[in-house]
Amino acid sequence: MTLILGLESSCDETAAALVTADRAIRAHQLAGQEADHRPFGGVVPEIAARAHVEALTPLVEAALAEAGVSLADVDAIAATAGPGLIGGVMVGLVTGKALALAAGKPLIAVNHLEGHALSPRLADPDLAFPYLLLLVSGGHCQLLLVEGVGQYRRLATTIDDAAGEAFDKTAKLLGLGFPGGPAVEKAALAGDPKAVPLPRPLVGSGEPHFSFAGLKSAVLRARDSGLYKAEDIAASFQQAVVDCLIDRTRRQLANVEASALVVAGGVAANKAVRGALEALAADHGLRFVAPPQWLCTDNAAMIAWAGAERYKAGLFDDLDAPARARWPLDPNAEK
Ligand code: KG4
Ligand code: ZN
Repeated sequence: MTLILGLESSCDETAAALVTADRAIRAHQLAGQEADHRPFGGVVPEIAARAHVEALTPLVEAALAEAGVSLADVDAIAATAGPGLIGGVMVGLVTGKALALAAGKPLIAVNHLEGHALSPRLADPDLAFPYLLLLVSGGHCQLLLVEGVGQYRRLATTIDDAAGEAFDKTAKLLGLGFPGGPAVEKAALAGDPKAVPLPRPLVGSGEPHFSFAGLKSAVLRARDSGLYKAEDIAASFQQAVVDCLIDRTRRQLANVEASALVVAGGVAANKAVRGALEALAADHGLRFVAPPQWLCTDNAAMIAWAGAERYKAGLFDDLDAPARARWPLDPNAEK
């Protein structure tokens, strides 16, 4: 069975994984860098790149040991080649190229967003193309029609902040700590989602896109008013994000032929987001697919899986494949 080694280093997780074409996750190794970045309240690119350099090779060795295989048993090496923090992307891609060259294996340069986009198919063997994907991460908030491997049509994107970025900024404003998404979700459990009146930017709009910057400003005003508890602001903010995501996704469901509604990316780990999307899919008589939480946030199993899908499609890359800070999944979409 085809065995792919995946490497991920585009943001603040260093990861290596071994996944087979029949969806067996033979190894899954991950080192987070939260403690390194916490004093700064966000990811510091230079610190991230250095940490990837130190962590990646030991993680590759640990992954091979976990699976009980050697590099010679691997059929191809898939490494994230962007988009992301360029220093980190270069560490993973150069490591992947070196391993490919040394072991005489093909290289697959994976778009990190494709890793997220195809991860639901690793989790669910029955998920068929085309599907409507809400991709919500720290850097992106997009609706995509996933028509096949390498075939993505972007239907909507954010005109300002990404959904995860809004969670992270809200956590910072409320002093809830880093990383922000899980901290806001936890605080929201103890709050009232109706306590604070917050805007729902672009909800009901005729255009397809998302916007979260106005929501962040409203959170700042609510905090500075001194009228509300942090938990209530967190719960109200989370509800506003959910309402925006649902409204924009519902709008697209009317336009596309899809086999399922799918969510992926770090924000897909959020239970309120997952629950609301599941209800939306049920309303439309559609299947709902969300990867398990560990597969939503950055990891290398999704990169290895995207590698397995590309391997099957005969999509390989040369050793001069570039590292890219920006790399849209849909070549017709400019951002
Ligand atoms: O996909 P991901 O791990 O990295 C990127 O590719 O960006 O997504 C990270 C983002 C961060 O903004 C983080 O705050 C958010 O996902 N996130 C969450 C949750 N877990 C992670 N947002 C809301 N609720 C969560 N439970
Ligand atoms: Zn990601």
